Amino acid sequence: MHKASFFAVEGVDGSGKSGMVAGIVAHLADSGAPAIATREPGGTPQGEKIRSLLLSGADHAWDQQSELLMMTAARVEHVRRIILPTLERGISVVSDRYVGSTIAYQGAGRGMSESYIRHLHKEAVGDVWPDLVVILDLDPEIGLARSRQRLSAGAIDEGRFETLDLDFHRRIRQSFLDQAAKTPARHVVIDALGTPDEVRARAIDAIEMWRAARK
Ligand code: TMP
Repeated sequence: MHKASFFAVEGVDGSGKSGMVAGIVAHLADSGAPAIATREPGGTPQGEKIRSLLLSGADHAWDQQSELLMMTAARVEHVRRIILPTLERGISVVSDRYVGSTIAYQGAGRGMSESYIRHLHKEAVGDVWPDLVVILDLDPEIGLARSRQRLSAGAIDEGRFETLDLDFHRRIRQSFLDQAAKTPARHVVIDALGTPDEVRARAIDAIEMWRAARK
């Protein structure tokens, strides 16, 4: 049996992550590697409840410590109930966001200490890191315009982070680039400007190069 891998897709809001997750799962399945799509915060009934506490409605203002602990609580459930059991069955996991988003949003965005976030991750979740993080790199001005359009179309009620200013989102983008520079073997940075098909083709090429290098 081939070795199952854990992929995370990260990027600023509106960078095209969810379509990318579906595209990677379909590509892996076509190449004989079954995979599931999942997301954070969420991925379990418990995590989805935490997601709606964190992201929906106008009156959900949390202290940044509470926000960090809730993101982490959702991740504990996700890792124990979904991610690890799925990998143990030989099935790959493709997650729309993971701890890289906590380092970016709660760390670089909110200004919380990255070493505290990493320590909390290790203590609460365990030493569970993606085999490969696909970063969709995009100017947040473009990403925010896309995701605000989606929000105003009324499809979803999850606007909390989209209301924050452009500087906040610029720090998010920079944090993802910094994370990639710190551990390049575990990250690929994909230019997310282009049509969904073009961007997906870039990501799949990068994943195939990574898989070939691992063999
Ligand atoms: P999205 O998955 O639809 O992009 O929305 C999730 C939002 O939650 C997004 O704005 C980023 C934010 N978030 C954090 O602030 N910290 C985290 O650890 C995660 C997973 C998401």
